[in-house]
Order: sequence, then C-alpha cells, then structure tokens
Amino acid sequence: MGKSHNISQPPQELLEAADFILRGGIGAVPTETVYGLAANALNPSAVRRIFEAKGRPFIDPLIVHVSDMEMARAAAHFTPEALKLAEHFWPGPFTLVLKRKDAIPDIVSAGLDTVALRMPSHPMTRALINACSVPIAAPSANPFGYISPTLAEHVREQLGNKIDFILDGGPCKCGVESTILMATCEPMKLLRAGPIAPAEIERVLGRPIDKNPKKNEAHPEAPGMLKSHYSPRSKLSLFDLPEEIPEAFKGEIIFLKRPEHPRKNEYWLSESGDEAEMAHNLFALLRSLDKFAKNGIYCQRPRADGIGLAVLDRLTRAKNS
Ligand code: TXA
Ligand code: MG
Repeated sequence: MGKSHNISQPPQELLEAADFILRGGIGAVPTETVYGLAANALNPSAVRRIFEAKGRPFIDPLIVHVSDMEMARAAAHFTPEALKLAEHFWPGPFTLVLKRKDAIPDIVSAGLDTVALRMPSHPMTRALINACSVPIAAPSANPFGYISPTLAEHVREQLGNKIDFILDGGPCKCGVESTILMATCEPMKLLRAGPIAPAEIERVLGRPIDKNPKKNEAHPEAPGMLKSHYSPRSKLSLFDLPEEIPEAFKGEIIFLKRPEHPRKNEYWLSESGDEAEMAHNLFALLRSLDKFAKNGIYCQRPRADGIGLAVLDRLTRAKNS
C-alpha cells in the first residue's frame, strides 16, 4: 500500500505538522474550499504570526476550524437554530458567526464578541485538528488582498519561506471560500457568498435570511466584504456579452464555458457551463494568467445563482478597472 491517510495511523508529515502547531508554529493546510494558513487558535503569539506572514491588518478576524462539536461548543455559544445549521452543513464549506466564549483569545476575533467557526471536511485537516486536539485559526493562505490559493504550489510560491510547513492535500474541491452566515442577529445575515447557497440555508432554517446586508465600508462586519479583495495584479474587467470587449483589446479573455473555436488568448472556467466547475477553476486560472497578462484580462460574468453567486462576488471584488 502507498501513503495512507487514515486517522488512526496519521502519516509522518501530519504528525510533524501537529507538532509545529502545538509548539506555536504556522503552516498551510488543505480544505475543501481554499488552502488555509493555520495556527493553534488558543495561542495568541502563534496567531499573531499568521497576521504577520499574510500582512493582514489585526482588525480582520480569523475563522476558527474545529473537528467535532465538543470543540465547537468550547469556542462559541450555540443557539438551537445555530446547532441545527451546524448539524446540517458540517463538516463542509459553511462558517457560522456566533457569540464567542472566553477560550478564544481576542486576537483571533479582532476583539469582537463573536467568533467565526467552521468544521472543514478535508480529511487531512480534520486529522490534523484531531491530532492536535486544539481548534485551528486559519485565514486563506494568501498575502492579504491577493487571490486565495487552491493548490499547495500557490502557497509555496508566495508564503513558502515564511511558514513552517505545507500539507499538500491536492486541489481544493470547491475553489472558493466558505459561505459565512452571521447567526447572532435577526434575521441572520449572509456575510459572504460561498459554496452553500442562501436558499439552502433558508430551507434548513425554515425562514428567510438577509442575503444583501447593507455594506458598511467604514465598519465592515466581515472585512472580507471590503470591495477590493482577491485582486490579481493584471487589470481585470468583466463582460456579459463578447461584443462589450473593445476591438483593440489585446489581453486574455475568460469565458464561462469552452468556446467552440478557442483562440490563443481565450480561456474558459468550465467545459460545459457547470457552475461548481467554474468555482473550482476560478482562482487557479486567474493566478496563472496573472503571471503574464500584461494587457489585462476580460472575464465573463456568471449568473448570480447557487455557487455562481460566489464566483460573481469574487470576480466583482477582483475587478480593478
Ligand atoms: O473557506 C474559508 O472560509 C477559508 C478556509 C481556509 O477555511 N478561510 C477564509 O478565511 O476564507 P479568511 O480569513 O480569508 O476570511 C474569513 C472572513 C473574513 O472576511 C473575516 O472578516 C470574516 O471571515 N470573519 C471572521 N471572524 C468574523 C467575525 N467574528 N465576525 C464577522 N466576520 C468574521
Ligand atoms: Mg481570505
């Protein structure tokens, strides 16, 4: 048998990563959404290293990752409705903002009285959290403001020399960050669109949520909601119909699905228009084009539906022209 990833016998690299985490180290971990930059959430100086490595402002709180409900309940207060949502969507790409318990240090939640919690489904990271027996604080493993990483290679290129380890769990399945729901207000608020669609949340809750909370740029409830985020360095513009692209445009063009006769400067997010596939490919394609697209990038807008809403949201934030 080759490398085994079963939980009873963690592979050596996982034990080493757990050891780094327990000694205050930081490292990249795979999740089903994007790669995270992990530290022991209960160790403020380890958490501080995450902010430093990313160049992230301390006012921008982190998500705490847990591997079971006992760990989740030690970090936050669960209302019966929050519990119902957690039971339905965890493990998975869904983050709940709840009232914080004292166990979670101030630095993790930027001094707010809430904490963002999620139980990821990637087996490697769940095994890591199990092996450490502590919750793990992890933002996306990219320099602040840049596109989130969906491959271990993306992390290595940008943060490789600032962190203690990288666990390679292959390409991230979803490819966009988790859906964030603020569950401490009435109605509950969607803070970030993601793989779990608002309609699914409403179905489980049995009542509506606020899908378009007023964006307050001065006091963003999730600083990830700041308009400029996830940006490539190349100039990125969006279009609905190809006719909107200026004739003189000499850069790269991204379509939602494969064109019938693609030209050299044409790319696509999916073979046939599948939205989950678009999300899965989005960040990796933007990153690879960003390495050479001197004349800019034009990308087609997806429909604001299901996970397409998350793709549209990331593109709108990435748009820098
Ligand atoms: O899929 C994901 O959520 C990935 C993987 C690694 O789990 N993580 C991720 O983390 O995207 P990050 O830090 O890049 O984005 C977390 C977002 C930020 O916009 C932050 O402002 C928001 O969550 N957030 C964290 N704690 C919060 C809180 N207490 N209240 C409101 N927003 C919060
Ligand atoms: Mg991020």
